[in-house]
Amino acid sequence: MTDTLNVPGGDVPGGDVPGGDVPAVDVPAVNVHGVSRIFAAGKGPGVTALDDVSLDVAPGEFVSLIGPSGCGKSTLLRLIADLDVPTSGSIEVFGKPARQARIDQDYGIAFQQAGLLPWRTVAGNIELPLELHGVGKAARRGRAAELIALVGLSDFAAHYPDQLSGGMQQRVAIARALAESPSLLLMDEPFGALDEMTRERMQNELVRICAETQAAVVFVTHSIPEAVFLSNRVVVLEPRPGRIRSIVGVGLGDMSGRGEDLREDEGFFRSLSEVRDLLHGDPDSSGTGLPTGVVPKTGARGVETR
Ligand SMILES: Nc1ncnc2c1ncn2[C@@H]1O[C@H](COP(=O)(O)OP(=O)(O)O)[C@@H](O)[C@H]1O
Ligand SMILES: [Mg+2]
Repeated sequence: MTDTLNVPGGDVPGGDVPGGDVPAVDVPAVNVHGVSRIFAAGKGPGVTALDDVSLDVAPGEFVSLIGPSGCGKSTLLRLIADLDVPTSGSIEVFGKPARQARIDQDYGIAFQQAGLLPWRTVAGNIELPLELHGVGKAARRGRAAELIALVGLSDFAAHYPDQLSGGMQQRVAIARALAESPSLLLMDEPFGALDEMTRERMQNELVRICAETQAAVVFVTHSIPEAVFLSNRVVVLEPRPGRIRSIVGVGLGDMSGRGEDLREDEGFFRSLSEVRDLLHGDPDSSGTGLPTGVVPKTGARGVETR
């Protein structure tokens, strides 16, 4: 499994990115610089979904975006994936414009909707990206079988999407996103449809996959424990206009050391309350309502403010 989970283009940590033309050293996986996105709203002033957002994600780093509904989480993820373009500002993925990264398939995506092809089996859906990139049949089959086992669907490889529950469909979508061992995963509430136990299991698997592949992840979630368990940093967003309120550094160590025990860890609970305080805090308590003014109630340990 280790072999095929390695990042294409180099199995050395911090080695070349897929495509091999840009060295990963010092090049962030994602660089969002001064990005705003304003949606037109008839004759009105428009909706500012994001306002001057800047964020770097390091190679191999796991960053979660959390915040109330409508604060621009999905918009930001879609911009990184080049499924939408910023009104102003710039986005680079591994040092390339987002468009080029999309063309080069530098990332895998798993969104809220599984988006599976109904006429393909579970295995067929997972094999699709590999097929599109000319991977041979035997290698495709092997890789798909491995991923199907990973997401716990070994008995369902030959099933079609409409024979699966919503949660199972989502697990297929996650396996598909992982098919090419991308150096970056973009995930928008991918576990939102899963029951709590499956969800925690998927979180454990994702941590393990990240440790093995060294993939960077930008992960949208509504769940504070999920964000803290998975992340190196949690980006707390606020709505209207969508801005970064604060970034919480989660000091829970390497992905490789994160297991079930962590959910009982004192540091885990400390980070939970830091994020919770930021989310539920009064955005105007700083006097400015701006991210720079926010001071977490639990002290500054492990917390950056912007
Ligand atoms: N295609 C669109 N057209 C108009 N408004 C949009 C569009 N997409 C998102 N918005 C608006 O942008 C804001 C942020 O949306 P979104 O990124 O989906 O939030 P979140 O994912 O955090 O819930 C919301 O006010 C939403 O209504
Ligand atoms: Mg959303």
